[in-house]
Amino acid sequence: MAKQWFPPIYWDGDAVALLDQRLLPHKEVVLRCTTPQQIVQAIKKMAIRGAPAVGVAGAMALALGARAIQAADTQTFHSKFVRLCHQVRNARPTGNNLSWAVERVYTVVAENGKEDVPTLRRLIWEMADTIRREDVEANLAIGSWGREIIPQGARILTYCNAGALATADYGTAVGVIRSAHESDPSVQVISCETRPFLQGSRLTVYELMKSGIPVTLVTDNAVGTLMQQKKIDVVVVGADRIAANGDTANKIGTYMVAVLAATHNIPFYVAAPRSTIDATLADGSLIPIEQRDPREVTHLNGRPMAPAGATAVNPAFDVTPAKYISGIITEVGIVRKPYGKTIRQALQA
Ligand code: MRU
Repeated sequence: MAKQWFPPIYWDGDAVALLDQRLLPHKEVVLRCTTPQQIVQAIKKMAIRGAPAVGVAGAMALALGARAIQAADTQTFHSKFVRLCHQVRNARPTGNNLSWAVERVYTVVAENGKEDVPTLRRLIWEMADTIRREDVEANLAIGSWGREIIPQGARILTYCNAGALATADYGTAVGVIRSAHESDPSVQVISCETRPFLQGSRLTVYELMKSGIPVTLVTDNAVGTLMQQKKIDVVVVGADRIAANGDTANKIGTYMVAVLAATHNIPFYVAAPRSTIDATLADGSLIPIEQRDPREVTHLNGRPMAPAGATAVNPAFDVTPAKYISGIITEVGIVRKPYGKTIRQALQA
């Protein structure tokens, strides 16, 4: 079917255009960013979110910034660019894709130290665009590998938004769903609303409805009873960072879903490109977890949902131990236990 959804990020001449995800599903507003600082703010404030999309945004921020750096010689350019890389990398801590993308773009500068400044700017821009394009290609491949784990007519539960909006396009977990739906239109999706930021209800439901894929919204609290009633056949979620042993950080609440799936013998899959894997971390306990403003918990659209002065904590991600994960769907195939070995092989493929 013809594509009905917006890409979350794209070049707009000399600027970077972002679909402001804070306003979805009610308003489709595009932010036109002309400086890297605007993109960093957009990442921090969640106008663009989802680990792969944030990685792409980071790379594009570096391309914009490189154009604006005033430097007569390569050395001055290099030191200013390194400062910019730090700023961009620190925009959000948990997703691996951001630091992976910054590192990849920085390597272009490090490896071309003899080139002049205009050449470096061009190489940086080309690398940012390669990262954007390759993310879409990876998602299409994840979709086609993932199709095989979706049973005929499956009721697929997903959590948060790992869709086109969370990537350069197409999506990871939602990419698997798109691909399964293409060959079997009888599949259905159950989307958890995903408190507190409501990525499930605001973004996944929006995106799937635009694509004509049947979707039912449920509260996060409904997962246990739906599984108990045998109304879920398979779970597919995205990831923000995957440690060397397969432990996976994803949106807060994912761990709860994984434990429930294990209790009910329901397969639980993670779909993610290899840029989400951080093989430098031995296990998930080392993954930095972003703590966000407690107001996201106590308030909804600026309206209080708790007594004034209520204390709240707001960890944005949790870690699902590898033992609960049936497989990790990457662009080079489905990785299964024992993850230590298979993840290493996937990274070398
Ligand atoms: O805080 P968010 O909205 O950036 O969190 C997003 C998620 O947790 C996604 O599941 C993850 O980034 C994978 S997106 C392909």
